[in-house]
Amino acid sequence: MNVGIIGAGRLGTALAGVFTRAGHQVMVSGNKGPQALAPLVGELGANASAGTPQEAADFGDVVVLAVQWDRKESAAASIPSWQGRTVLVPLNPLRQGSGGLEVIDTGGTPPTETVARLLPGALVVKGFNTYLAQALTEDPAVDGGRRVVLLAGDHTDAKRKVADLADSAGFQAVDTGTLAEGAPLFDTGGPLNGLNRDLLAL
Ligand SMILES: NC(=O)c1ccc[n+]([C@@H]2O[C@H](COP(=O)([O-])OP(=O)(O)OC[C@H]3O[C@@H](n4cnc5c(N)ncnc54)[C@H](OP(=O)(O)O)[C@@H]3O)[C@@H](O)[C@H]2O)c1
Repeated sequence: MNVGIIGAGRLGTALAGVFTRAGHQVMVSGNKGPQALAPLVGELGANASAGTPQEAADFGDVVVLAVQWDRKESAAASIPSWQGRTVLVPLNPLRQGSGGLEVIDTGGTPPTETVARLLPGALVVKGFNTYLAQALTEDPAVDGGRRVVLLAGDHTDAKRKVADLADSAGFQAVDTGTLAEGAPLFDTGGPLNGLNRDLLAL
């Protein structure tokens, strides 16, 4: 599968590693242009390339939006049309404050819905938001089981694509339902958020 990644920071880079190691083609993109990502592409190897955010969006069978929560509006606006694109959204409403990570108030709108509204026409799949980037560099095979990736989305085919990506990388995708039903279970503050080390598919 081809994966386009918008935002090559900690999580975007970790996911690029997950998917290239699984044999997928990944195009990373960031704020500073493709040249700035040449060292990262070198580390990721032959399955990786760099482009602009628009090129990454066009490249990906799945497009990953992996920018900071505060940058989601500008990143979304940088792609003129999201229509029909399968977009994996691992964003959490968190920012680094002076005392550590702070939860950003989304004004009563569920976090995933807040992001989905910025991507009109996109087939949004929430997922991979519950793992720290560092944890994604580790083997998902643990104690005879596989680490679980919780997914939510309103479009079955889009969810299937993301589930195939997760499964091919050694995880076990688990469909929690629609964005409205499933995402609140594992979004920031949800009952399944932070349980990754305990959720294994055997
Ligand atoms: N880090 C984690 O462990 C983790 C785990 C789960 C979920 N998440 C979620 O994943 C998202 C990214 O987190 P992160 O820790 O990876 O943040 P990060 O390290 O700050 O990386 C975000 C990247 O996005 C780039 N970016 C910003 N605006 C962009 C735009 N318009 N187009 C292209 N690239 C843009 C940034 O570039 P500049 O630096 O040049 O601005 C930066 O490289 C957040 O929403 C976070 O909640 C993170």
